[in-house]
Amino acid sequence: MEPDKKEGRYLRIHQQLKELLKKTADRDARMATIVAVLHHKMDYFSWTGFYFLVNGELTVKTYQGPVACQVLEKNKGVCWAGITQEKTIVVPDVHLFPGHIACDTRSSSEIAVPVRDKKGKIIGVLDVDSTSLNSFDDVDALYLERIVELI
Ligand code: SME
Repeated sequence: MEPDKKEGRYLRIHQQLKELLKKTADRDARMATIVAVLHHKMDYFSWTGFYFLVNGELTVKTYQGPVACQVLEKNKGVCWAGITQEKTIVVPDVHLFPGHIACDTRSSSEIAVPVRDKKGKIIGVLDVDSTSLNSFDDVDALYLERIVELI
């Protein structure tokens, strides 16, 4: 998607989510709504979902897309990199990322965005896959970081 179009789309999604999320304080409902809106509005998102730390294990939460790994091997792959490096990880080509966990063999690029609690502690990641190479950039990182703050 061209950068201008992408930015406009994210701005509209952010605004729409702010309105939708006024309806409940329930975290699961808010996360499910975020995933549904992103997955259906961003045509290059092939898998969109959350992994949260549960007893030290990254465990899948609400998602849309093909069936995914329920628990990710510890300290391996893109999602764990987001947790341990405490920053958004943009992967242009997953095949070149050491330890990448291929839940879906069609995945080619990926972004993992840390989710923090109110005290700033990392509790999970928003993970998005694309079947095309180089799908994610600084614009995705910036807006997805803003969107996870809405949880
Ligand atoms: N590729 C991820 C695993 C989760 S799936 O993409 C849904 C990783 O390497 O952590």
